Amino acid sequence: RARFFIAGPPRFRHPYPQIPDPVPTPFYDAIIIGAGAAGLLCAAQAGQRGLKVLLIDHADKVAEKIRISGGGRCNFTNRDLDVRAPHKHFVGQNPQFCRSALSRFTPDDFIALIERHGIAYHEKHKGQLFADRSAEDIIQMLLAECADGGVTHWQPCAVQSVTAIPDEAGARYRLETGRGTVHAHSLVIATGGLSIPKIGATDFGYRVATQFGLPLVERRPGLVPLTFDGAGWEPYAQLAGLALPVEISTGSKKERMAFLEDLLFTHRGLSGPAVLQISSYWQPGTPLAINLAPSQNMAALLQDAKARSRKLIANELSGHVPSRLADAWSQQSADWQRPINEASDKALLRLAEQLSRWELIPTGTEGYKKAEVTLGGIDTKALAQQTMESRTQPGLYFIGEVVDITGWLGGYNFQWAWASAHACAEAL
Ligand code: FDA
Repeated sequence: RARFFIAGPPRFRHPYPQIPDPVPTPFYDAIIIGAGAAGLLCAAQAGQRGLKVLLIDHADKVAEKIRISGGGRCNFTNRDLDVRAPHKHFVGQNPQFCRSALSRFTPDDFIALIERHGIAYHEKHKGQLFADRSAEDIIQMLLAECADGGVTHWQPCAVQSVTAIPDEAGARYRLETGRGTVHAHSLVIATGGLSIPKIGATDFGYRVATQFGLPLVERRPGLVPLTFDGAGWEPYAQLAGLALPVEISTGSKKERMAFLEDLLFTHRGLSGPAVLQISSYWQPGTPLAINLAPSQNMAALLQDAKARSRKLIANELSGHVPSRLADAWSQQSADWQRPINEASDKALLRLAEQLSRWELIPTGTEGYKKAEVTLGGIDTKALAQQTMESRTQPGLYFIGEVVDITGWLGGYNFQWAWASAHACAEAL
């Protein structure tokens, strides 16, 4: 059969077939997943130690939780932290676990860092420190520290998979990411907890832990408003918006936990610092006890008023508790809707007892969409407390909120994020 060739310029032929050089997979000493509080500080410090660091986060914006924290001013630490007794301010199966990290990176160390960056701050109540201007200053400081450490920052970038590979020239982990495959000697998981999914919270850290056989402690929302069932809550719903100082407690006598803080009534239940704090200790199905007039002896005050006043009980009460509360409370019984001098001693005593020991069982919480933190997480038994490294999977580290360590409201959670990040960065 005839064959036709189209004449063209002679083509240069290499004597041997050309195999393109394979593009080497980028290698990092450490890859840190999660550019939040813990991930940013860890990346910066590891970079400044001379390590080649890659920081990856899937969210569009960096460190959203820092940005929204402390009402936009970031309560970045707490001066009252007692590093020798972490159980005082931290919850988890073993709060002692955080002692080593907290004592090697203290609130003073973080304060020194922000002072070096010229960030002005102030103390609110109970040792809580806030940025004067904005939480954004703390984020910019952490980003500047990362730049100082020559950190490579990929954001947004998703991590599709993590695989442990046979140690070859130092590479122990391979990651498939939205920007290609990368290798690392060490892998740090700093992906935080489950609260506020709409700004990027995921269960990634827990999935990686499970993949490598690390045990988990059951997760649930912490520092979260509590809710009550619709009909039972109706008499109190009218109090929505009312705030007052209370003593709130939960637990049996031996394990009783109590806070003296402000409580806020909401349409669905209770919130405010008192309730957020107690929510981290409250066990579903168990009651809370609330003293609505913690600094007063209500029984004595009511008896005294009975002897000298003809005012309605609600009016007398409003001298000691907010008048909306006094009105709502006295409406609960016909015995309390009369002049105080006509009330029986028994009725007044019952009223005093109800105000100073209001017992109620929450039906639930507002969940992760309103919770400030996640209780539970990576079981601390699986990690070395000096380094945050897995005891069974060399080169795999977990820091920050993903670990089963949860702080009180008031800057303790950020201090844990900074301290665990520092402990890890020193060990990488
Ligand atoms: P953090 O949540 O900061 O960072 C995790 C990062 O991982 C995020 O950037 C996320 O996008 C990323 N990530 C998640 N999944 C990923 C995935 N699959 N792939 C890649 N990246 C992923 N604490 C305190 O001490 N003082 C305060 O004032 C406040 N205020 C406050 C207000 C509100 C509204 C909330 C919700 C929380 C607080 N907190 C707080 C708690 C505090 O914000 C929290 O404990 C720390 O941010 C935890 O730091 P981490 O670095 O562990 O997680």
